[in-house]
Amino acid sequence: MFTKKLLTIFLFILLVQFAFSQAKNLNVEEADFTFAFLTDIHLKPEMGAPQGFQMAIDKVNELNPDFVLTGGDLVFDAMRGNKGRSDTLFSLYKEMSAGFNMQVYNCLGNHDLFAIYAESPESSDHPDYKYGMFERYFGKTYYSFDHKNWHFIVLNSLGVTENKRYTGVFSEEELAWLKTDISKLDTLTPIVIVTHIPMITTRSQVTGSEGKGNVSNAAEVFKMLESYNLKLVLQGHIHWKEYGYVNDRFHYITGGSIAGNGWKGRRHNTKEGFVLVKVKGDGFSWEYVDHGWEAERLKKAESLPEAK
Ligand SMILES: [Fe+2]
Repeated sequence: MFTKKLLTIFLFILLVQFAFSQAKNLNVEEADFTFAFLTDIHLKPEMGAPQGFQMAIDKVNELNPDFVLTGGDLVFDAMRGNKGRSDTLFSLYKEMSAGFNMQVYNCLGNHDLFAIYAESPESSDHPDYKYGMFERYFGKTYYSFDHKNWHFIVLNSLGVTENKRYTGVFSEEELAWLKTDISKLDTLTPIVIVTHIPMITTRSQVTGSEGKGNVSNAAEVFKMLESYNLKLVLQGHIHWKEYGYVNDRFHYITGGSIAGNGWKGRRHNTKEGFVLVKVKGDGFSWEYVDHGWEAERLKKAESLPEAK
């Protein structure tokens, strides 16, 4: 009798333990997710760009991440353009990106700034000037959202100088917004930042180029996030693929590009592609995905008649 009772208790404990472990596994699985980061798309009707972008969209849909983040330079190019041409480019991007089977979060790039260059026929009074066209098509140029316990911050890394050039900078207004945005977070919440102009990059050291092309006040954001759980900075602009891990603190990935060198070939010998990030609990892994555009581009080049 006593043995029977003991056996029942033992079985009950085993059952409870099993139920707990199943629930725990379920929670971990539910918290895991993937997302794609596509940067420097440079969409335009020419050079086979729509075909190349469609191949990227098809590849993303096949991989089926939870959502897509873009890294800016959605189109090429609104900086110098007139309204008609720039509208055509933005409409084409909006139409094509509706083909993603999941939500797309867009980031602003320098080529998406409307009519900022002196050679543009439009004036700075135009309602679409600078951020206006991007805002009309896609909404705010900086914002945040949450996905399964992770916090995503998409930043506007672009200003315009008095001599009508673009520059990598976070505005004072944006920094004030960021401070408020993160103040609502638990300090353990993993944070991902998306920026077009890199906040940190090895390019100038590797190529010997001048140190331009970085956000001039990026350190303010790093300082602001010092006591938070910044996990990853995703960046575009330089069509350069790199990864770094800083002081056991945060990772950064510069995500190559969809367009390569203006759709003509690789840039910095980086194959056209995009980044796929797999989040597992508090950590992540990533890979650079070739969506097949290089092979297609080379095939096209081969089939062209030889120049005489
Ligand atoms: Fe670009």
